[in-house]
Amino acid sequence: MGYQAQFKVWRGDATGGDFVDYRVEVEEGEVVLDIMHRLQATQAGDMAVRWNCKAGKCGSCSAEVNGRPRLMCMARMSTFTEDETITVAPIRTFPVIRDLVTDVDFNYHKAREVPAFAPPEDLAPGEYRMAQVDVDRSQEFRKCIECFLCQNVCHVVRDHEENKEPFAGPRYLMRIAELEMHPLDVRDRQEAAQDDHGLGYCNITKCCTEVCPEHIKITDNALIPMKERVADRKYDPLVWLGRKIFKR
Ligand code: SF4
Ligand code: F3S
Ligand code: FES
Repeated sequence: MGYQAQFKVWRGDATGGDFVDYRVEVEEGEVVLDIMHRLQATQAGDMAVRWNCKAGKCGSCSAEVNGRPRLMCMARMSTFTEDETITVAPIRTFPVIRDLVTDVDFNYHKAREVPAFAPPEDLAPGEYRMAQVDVDRSQEFRKCIECFLCQNVCHVVRDHEENKEPFAGPRYLMRIAELEMHPLDVRDRQEAAQDDHGLGYCNITKCCTEVCPEHIKITDNALIPMKERVADRKYDPLVWLGRKIFKR
């Protein structure tokens, strides 16, 4: 049975904006993205919404629904009560372009700063051999749909614009960890993780893991192991001695 739901949707652009009230028809089985589409079709034809797959796989429809960062196409209307006012806002960490659409360019810049997979030079394609456990680890990280919800929610950049320069964010620190733990990658990524990509800014709050729609254990399986590797190296007496000698 359909009903009329009360929404507050953020409307505006880079110069400013505010929440606007709407009453919209809701049908059984719908998700928040369906309602945004109905709103576009019936009351707000110029409202900007980014989406693509409507199946939780393209990572385009990230927004903050009742203050919680999530995919609009995976946010079931049945999880809200019929008399509840539902707020829909653009993700907060990135600059607004218009309405619910933000400029997520930051993430593509950070992606480009991570050096690519570097296999041994004498290993030809087809000669790669890996243990299943190493394949499984990479596969968990590769479930990422680049929705940037983890990047959006991490307090290091969410509350501190100035940290966007030195901090790659959980998604790209996870990529560095994936490559660092890859048995065929020969590049040393530990020092760069700490010095160039801001691993030390992460204080393991795990908000990134909590919002990940792919349920990737970003903190436990990528960030903490990466921190452990960096710490082991820092306190390894041989590494310490080597640094002393070569820095002289
Ligand atoms: Fe989204 Fe998860 Fe990928 Fe982060 S790691 S961008 S939350 S899918
Ligand atoms: Fe941020 Fe995740 Fe670390 S939310 S502080 S990157 S554990
Ligand atoms: Fe593709 Fe929501 S529209 S993830």
